[in-house]
Amino acid sequence: MIGAAGDGADAPTAGVRVKVWDPFVRLGHWALVASTLTAWLTHEGPPALHDRAGYLALGIVVLRVLWGFIGPPHSRFKDFVRGVEETTRYARAWLRGDAPHYLGHNPLGGWMILALLATIATTSVTGWLLTTDWFWGSAIVESLHAFSARFLLFLIVFHVGGVLLTSWRGGENLVAAMIHGKKRVR
Ligand code: HEM
Ligand code: HEM
Repeated sequence: MIGAAGDGADAPTAGVRVKVWDPFVRLGHWALVASTLTAWLTHEGPPALHDRAGYLALGIVVLRVLWGFIGPPHSRFKDFVRGVEETTRYARAWLRGDAPHYLGHNPLGGWMILALLATIATTSVTGWLLTTDWFWGSAIVESLHAFSARFLLFLIVFHVGGVLLTSWRGGENLVAAMIHGKKRVR
């Protein structure tokens, strides 16, 4: 299994705790959570805070995408974006309750991350368009913004649910790992 812990000639020893999430990934994650939730909670005002929080979220998404090409191994897209076959195999195993352990993001988590990043970008860009002379008051762009914001909320519910369930089933606190950055090698 590509990218799973324990594979490869330079695989670290089982049981050892290793650094997986670099400071940018960790700080970026919690800043993204704070800015996205602030944008959501302020959609009825004040508009300045709503817009700034949305732009901040967009800025973090842009940096995270760049980091996905130049950052340390586990932050790279090629480390966690997997093909349909491997993702389907993982999803089946996850449903059965015997999913393999991944040191980085698992295949389902990887696709969820892409969906979250793309939806935050869509929501923020459509929000920005509403402030321009071209699209100010455009019913279509307003609907796109409202729809992508709601879809984002839907993804977040699944993301948090998936993280908590995977933590519980795998006996590993993934939320704590997103704070201190370390995970145990299986
Ligand atoms: C606005 C809400 C949220 C957004 C937009 C969001 C977005 C993301 C993104 C983009 C990643 C990938 C991190 C990276 O590689 O850079 C991620 C991972 C993660 N998130 Fe969130 N997140 C949100 C809320 C939360 C919350 C509330 C929790 C805690 C319960 C959480 C826990 C995690 C964990 C543990 C991971 C790593 C999963 C793994 O081990 O593969 N997230 N999230
Ligand atoms: C993650 C980022 C964002 C989220 C989650 C978000 C969320 C929302 C939500 C839920 C609404 C109410 C939609 C409705 O029910 O009609 C809204 C409205 C609005 N947002 Fe955002 N937004 C974000 C970013 C932005 C940005 C960056 C801007 C502009 C700079 C912006 C500008 C607006 C405007 C102008 C409205 C009012 C639209 C109308 O007249 O219905 N938003 N936003």
